[in-house]
Amino acid sequence: MNKKRKRLLTGDRPTGKLHLGHYVGSLKNRVALQEQYECFFIVADLHTLTTKPEKEHVAGLAANIYDIVLDYLSVGIDPQQSTIFLQSAVTEEFELNLLLTMLVTLPRLARLPSLKDMARAAQLDEERLPLGLIGYPVLQAADILLPRAHLVPVGKDNEAHVEISREIARRFNRLYDAEVFPVPEVLVGDVPTLVGIDGQSKMSKSLNNAIFLSDNEKAVEKKVMRMYTDPKRIRADIPGRVEGNPVFIYHDAFNPNLAEVKDLKARYRQGKVGDVEVKRKLARALNNFLDPIREQRAYYEAQPGMVEEVLVVGTRRMQTVARKTMELVYEAMGMPSLKLRRAITRDVDFRLLG
Ligand code: TRP
Repeated sequence: MNKKRKRLLTGDRPTGKLHLGHYVGSLKNRVALQEQYECFFIVADLHTLTTKPEKEHVAGLAANIYDIVLDYLSVGIDPQQSTIFLQSAVTEEFELNLLLTMLVTLPRLARLPSLKDMARAAQLDEERLPLGLIGYPVLQAADILLPRAHLVPVGKDNEAHVEISREIARRFNRLYDAEVFPVPEVLVGDVPTLVGIDGQSKMSKSLNNAIFLSDNEKAVEKKVMRMYTDPKRIRADIPGRVEGNPVFIYHDAFNPNLAEVKDLKARYRQGKVGDVEVKRKLARALNNFLDPIREQRAYYEAQPGMVEEVLVVGTRRMQTVARKTMELVYEAMGMPSLKLRRAITRDVDFRLLG
């Protein structure tokens, strides 16, 4: 493996199965950049606690963690090449998070629109925002800075969080006159926010408007057939609107047959094609796109314990990387605890040897 590769970190909260929006927003970039970068993919279970700390949600984490790792493997993330790890099992996350909270102000975090979005989604009014939710982007910065990542592929909604990570990285380097952290670059996918099948808002599991990477052929067909299109077009011979129309947004994003898409658009505009034909062709394109993903999924599912093993190996690898970064951090800061810890380790080693 080429040691000089730059590093990439990104990931997701384990809240459910991944969908087409995740794919075009970030997963596609991850798979494409896998060879060029040394990749770290975080399963951010601690982040789920920011809005869902209750015991029943924690109890559901194990199944969601399994599903997300399987989704990663299914889209083509190669565990031989990339590191998939569990956030809460890397205790350096907690360490670095605390140190980074010293480098950002409360008003800076409180102003972020994403905070309001998350609060609204969790039905929390301003008086009841947990400190941890306000600190969400700081923990995300710890995720990104722990492997000292250069690149962070995310969906549009996470762009502002990566900006916070950049500010924190610069602040650390300046404060301690060191180059510990690269200032991470953000990379947003070619469809930064994919509309849901309801055409109303972004694709999201909680809005019940998602097509999942794990949906079978029939489920995809059903969802596509009930997709929102041009509401003014009550008959096939009425000219329709292509721009902003979810079926054509999806055709553009997932149908590699450009000639077919072009022809459908032209006839749609002229009122010479029915919604049913446009949708049938979309369902076929989506199922063609999903077939290799389904195949990979079946491959991994057929080997019991494999998904868990990928996570164990990746987390162990991340623990080593994380420890190295924390040494650099304490060294740069000149923290007395570093010397003390080293003395203690030596002492313990001495006794073990003696
Ligand atoms: N905030 C991301 C989300 O919306 C998940 C996440 C947690 C993340 N840590 C990260 C993304 C680090 C990129 C980098 O679900």
